[in-house]
Amino acid sequence: MGFSKLGQTLTAAEILFLVKDDLKLVEKEIRLESIASVDVITAIGQHLQAGGGKRLRPTLLLLACRLFNEPSTLAIKLAAVVEMIHTATLVHDDVIDVAETRRGRPSTNALWGNHTSVLAGDWLYMQAFQVALRERNFHILDVLIGLTQVMVEGELIQLDRIGKIAVSEADYMELIDRKTASLFSACARLGAIAGGADDHAEARLGEYAWNLGMAFQLVDDVLDFTSREKVLGKPVGNDLQEGKVTLPLIYALESATAEEKAAVATVLSDSSYKTVPFTTILQIIKKYKGVERVMERAQAFTEVARAIIGEFPESSVQRSLFGITDLVTDRDH
Ligand code: IPE
Ligand code: IPE
Ligand code: MG
Ligand code: MG
Repeated sequence: MGFSKLGQTLTAAEILFLVKDDLKLVEKEIRLESIASVDVITAIGQHLQAGGGKRLRPTLLLLACRLFNEPSTLAIKLAAVVEMIHTATLVHDDVIDVAETRRGRPSTNALWGNHTSVLAGDWLYMQAFQVALRERNFHILDVLIGLTQVMVEGELIQLDRIGKIAVSEADYMELIDRKTASLFSACARLGAIAGGADDHAEARLGEYAWNLGMAFQLVDDVLDFTSREKVLGKPVGNDLQEGKVTLPLIYALESATAEEKAAVATVLSDSSYKTVPFTTILQIIKKYKGVERVMERAQAFTEVARAIIGEFPESSVQRSLFGITDLVTDRDH
């Protein structure tokens, strides 16, 4: 894992080194801002924060900021805000998906039930906006609110497609743009704003991160088929059981036989692998090179991301933003 350039390889630790101390401040901010006057919300906040997570979105925001300036208190606060928004979407997503595991631990809904989880997710969203509102910056609020609406619309579109086998590549791309890439893009733009970048640089960094986010979700959907639960922190083979036909399968279905299509349809209608085992689905994907083709698409997105970062002057921060593209495609969780 790492990015090679002129014999140099950046490891994950080297990429993250630049924002290690910033991230400690972000964690502190999240901890302070997750205290509610109702105990159950505070408990859920602690459960979510202790569960870990890669903190990729705050990392992106902080690196984008560091391209121009040292992170100010504003950058730290915004990094906490985007992680809180991300966490709120996960809490709601796990309710919708009836997911029992998140970040290797029982999901919020598994521990506290759906009703409490929905309200805790609402509270987290509002708290994130509250923190942002204190900055009295309309541009920032505009980005955050627009983004959250796009993400919620994405989840609604996904809901409408649950259980359907006929999903096109274009449908899929629109969905991951909304549910994942838009947040990545907003993170980089907010980092650029906090760092004092001009409008052009902000827009280019937004493009960079959008491409990174697209690659990230493609890899997430590959890992759903290829990883192991212990490594991934959530069950494997889950997307199809949840009724989601993702790109590895969309590609395979383009060439699949009637019998193979029927096998996929059976998992969708059973919402489980009780009739058709997961290994059968894996074989179908393997036969039509679904994983390889999706990884190629992911690489194409990261190549665009790299080309954009190449427009910025060379620096250790610039190299880290390059390096993240490899972390996204080479990751195992
Ligand atoms: C999970 O995001 C939701 C997706 C966009 C696939 P992450 O994989 O970044 O989740 P954490 O924060 O590291 O747990
Ligand atoms: C994650 O979507 C939620 C958002 C990105 C808004 P998924 O349902 O695909 O992600 P996991 O697999 O639960 O993490
Ligand atoms: Mg989910
Ligand atoms: Mg997923």
